[in-house]
Amino acid sequence: MTALYLLCVHGYPLDRRMWGPLAARLEADGVCRVVAPDLRGRGTSRRPAAGIHAMSLFADDLAADLPSLVPGDAPFLLCGLSMGGYVSFEFLRRHGARLKIRLRGLVLCDTRATGDDDAGRAKRKEAIEAIRRNGIDAAFEAMAPKLLSPKSKGMPAETLVREMILGIPPATAMADLAGLALRSDAFDVLGSFDRPVLVVCGEDDAITPVADAEAMVATCANAPFVRLFTTPRAGHMAPLENPGDVASAIADLAKRV
Ligand code: MLT
Repeated sequence: MTALYLLCVHGYPLDRRMWGPLAARLEADGVCRVVAPDLRGRGTSRRPAAGIHAMSLFADDLAADLPSLVPGDAPFLLCGLSMGGYVSFEFLRRHGARLKIRLRGLVLCDTRATGDDDAGRAKRKEAIEAIRRNGIDAAFEAMAPKLLSPKSKGMPAETLVREMILGIPPATAMADLAGLALRSDAFDVLGSFDRPVLVVCGEDDAITPVADAEAMVATCANAPFVRLFTTPRAGHMAPLENPGDVASAIADLAKRV
């Protein structure tokens, strides 16, 4: 039987390493193969940062790289965390029809289908200015306290989050923020998706709380299976903070695709 792949898209201001513990569980349990590329401008990506990282640009990068990520005609689940979820929506919007046979389901972790409102866009502008003035430390100070549950204090996730954020080139973080501000609602995409969907949300998620997850679940009218999995001992980074429980939920989804 052809192996099932999980194509994972990381959040802001992070990189592919955030998927490491989840990937280790899923692969050890033989659930699926995990591929987790770095988005442009960071880590192992061969693409330089652009001026603005629109979610559509990231989605097109992902589609262009798909043959090297998920070989041949292998089936895959698309899995995004936060900004990675927004990228997944654009991927579905732009490339979903062409990949309909292979794209077997969706895993949305700590994300939301709403775009930024005016206040949100103003905050992105301030965050860009702060990075311009003070470098990537400004992104670390703004994001680190919000990303993890208080229960993750002193855990390996805390060290990794620090390393990931401080490793992002400032130009990349600024371009991400500019793209995040531009994105639109994605309820239309979710509403027409007709494959199984798993929505994961850390109980202590302070950035995209459970209400955002519930709104996405309520929209999935055409999906044959939809599950909201609210994860204990996790904030905005459920797959990193509680990889065991998230891996079990993905294993359950994989049986249904
Ligand atoms: C993320 O984790 O990717 C960001 O928090 C997304 C956002 O700020 O909307």
